[in-house]
Amino acid sequence: MRASRPGRTATCTASGRAETPSPSKTGLAEAAPAKGAGPFRASVGNENALRIEEDASSMKQPFKAVKVSDHVYWVGAIDWSLRDFHGYSTERGTTYNAYLILADKITLVDAVKAPFKDELLARIGSVINPEQISYIVSNHAEMDHSGCLPQIVETVKPEQIFASTMGVKNLSEQLHIGQEITAVKDGESLSLGNMSLSFVETKMLHWPDSMFSYLDADELLFSNDAFGMHLASSGRFDVEVPDWEYQAAKYYANILMPFSHLVLKLLDRMGSLNLPIKTIAPDHGPIWRRDIDKILKLYATWAQQKPTRKAVIAYDTMWESTALMARAIGDGLVAGGTQFKLMPLKVSHRSDVVTELLDAGALLVGSSTMNNNMLPAVADLLTYLKGLRPKNLIGTAFGSYGWSGESVGHVREVLSQIGVELVGDGVKAKFVPTEEVLTNCFNLGIQTAERLKNL
Ligand code: FEO
Repeated sequence: MRASRPGRTATCTASGRAETPSPSKTGLAEAAPAKGAGPFRASVGNENALRIEEDASSMKQPFKAVKVSDHVYWVGAIDWSLRDFHGYSTERGTTYNAYLILADKITLVDAVKAPFKDELLARIGSVINPEQISYIVSNHAEMDHSGCLPQIVETVKPEQIFASTMGVKNLSEQLHIGQEITAVKDGESLSLGNMSLSFVETKMLHWPDSMFSYLDADELLFSNDAFGMHLASSGRFDVEVPDWEYQAAKYYANILMPFSHLVLKLLDRMGSLNLPIKTIAPDHGPIWRRDIDKILKLYATWAQQKPTRKAVIAYDTMWESTALMARAIGDGLVAGGTQFKLMPLKVSHRSDVVTELLDAGALLVGSSTMNNNMLPAVADLLTYLKGLRPKNLIGTAFGSYGWSGESVGHVREVLSQIGVELVGDGVKAKFVPTEEVLTNCFNLGIQTAERLKNL
């Protein structure tokens, strides 16, 4: 992957001191052995490059940094127990990736969720004394990457903290950091002494403050949430995590789907910037080395949301009548040449339904009527989908009822609000579906499959 460098490459004048490094922060040879230093010793070589010498005893210590590239270490934390991220099921936990750049101006890129602060400091401490950090760059203000920043700033006492313009605002409004934060602009570069860090704003991917940072010396892109996934693993790199694809799709569907038009623009911009990229270092999940092209291509595919001949049937049922209807619709879909995924909402999480929709062309939603309304699990899914705004779907509603039967109408109304193009009028069954109703369900499946063939 190549992209030309961001347009403005002037030294970040906002930093002022970037070209006149403070000896206390940059004279690593003078500083070592610093208080709290870990089992590594840092020194400055003839070429002004930092050398890290590892003590044999360090191999026995936990919470070490992991080398990512010539000048970058992973110093994040692994959260094996996270199971929910704002309504998105994270059944495999997550990671909070933070990175340390060993430049003349030692720089921390992003931080971790507050309870993992000590782990972050321990990993930093395995390489340098945390007080040697000169700069902190916050690519994204959400608290899984900034929650411990007030304490980290207090410990490290950095010369400067940098964030995007919106990052400055969001960090200030969320956290009480006792130090001024300097705004950096899209295309601006910050001198770290012997290398530089450039910034690319990625507004609304997925917060207004989000940005990428690019380290020229290592051809490494810090991509914050983009290209990430909630996946705890013992390995830090893509080659060590072979089964990442579902979790990457799930992350895209549940976090980035509403901003797909911006993802396409960003991918175009990355192409036009023509930056050489050897490593993409996201804030969650594996670090990309081998599979950079693959994850970029998957993002391009997911962002387009092209309808395929796949349908998702999601439903909840009181006494199995709506479930029977769902299976009859499925048979009709297959008869019409469309594959389907049946997702009973009693056992399927809303965030997995959304993930299945990422490459689907149709969504059929079933609900029994209860108290003149749809079932709560169905309302939950539809509310979630309203926020995520999946595109290019056709679909309808179906369900059983005893005496009033409002659920089908209510579900169709919400599907329409979401932007789903409605097929037919939906199918209702009074109490238990008759053979005729099941035939109607089967025909609905065929009708949906026919529509998908023509999209
Ligand atoms: Fe991983 Fe938007 O925070």
